[in-house]
Amino acid sequence: MTSLFEEISDPTPDDVPVNRVAITVNGQKRTADVEPRLLLAHFLRQGLKLTGTHTGCDTTNCGACTVLMDGKPVKSCTVLAVQAEGREVVTVEGMASGSELDSVQEGFKDEHALQCGFCTPGMMLAARALLNENPDPTEDEVRFALSGNLCRCTGYQNIVKAVLWAAAKDRGEDPTQAVEKYTAKQKGANQ
Ligand code: FES
Ligand code: FES
Repeated sequence: MTSLFEEISDPTPDDVPVNRVAITVNGQKRTADVEPRLLLAHFLRQGLKLTGTHTGCDTTNCGACTVLMDGKPVKSCTVLAVQAEGREVVTVEGMASGSELDSVQEGFKDEHALQCGFCTPGMMLAARALLNENPDPTEDEVRFALSGNLCRCTGYQNIVKAVLWAAAKDRGEDPTQAVEKYTAKQKGANQ
C-alpha cells in the first residue's frame, strides 16, 4: 500500500479525506491511498514514477498526457485518479512487449516522426487507440484521431506516415510500401 499524497504535496492535514484506489497500470494492479483531487497524470508520474506520461498544458489542450483507460485515449491531466478506480490504464511504458516494440513505436522510429519527443508518448497512445478500433484508417481519419495532440517541432506529416506504417504492419502488409503509396498520392495531388 502506498500513500501517494505525501510524495506529491505537503503532509495531508488530518481533515482531508483520502480514498483507496486500485488501478491496473500496464497490466499490474496498483493500490494507493490518494486525495480525491489527485490527477491521474500526477498519480502516474509522481506516484508510480511512470514519467513517460508528459504534462504540457494541464488544461486539456496539448494531449501530451494522453494514456489509455479501458482502451480509450484520455487526457490524464483532466482525469482524477479516483475516476480510474477499477480501470485498466496503459501508459507509454506499457506499449512494448519486453524488447518488442509496438508497431506504432516502430512506425514512429522508421518514419522519423519525432524530434524533441515531448508529444510522442501521447501521440503514440492516441494512434494505438485508433488502430485498435480502425485497422485501415484513411489519412483524414488519422489526422482526426490525432487532432487533440499537438506537436510543436516535428510537424504532422511524418506522424501521419508513422501511423499508416503501423496500420499496414498490423494488417500484415508491407509498411514501407503503404507509406510510399501515400507519399506518391500526395505528390500527385500537389502537382
Ligand atoms: S497536459 Fe494534459 S492535455 Fe496538455
Ligand atoms: S516531437 Fe517535439 S513536440 Fe512533437
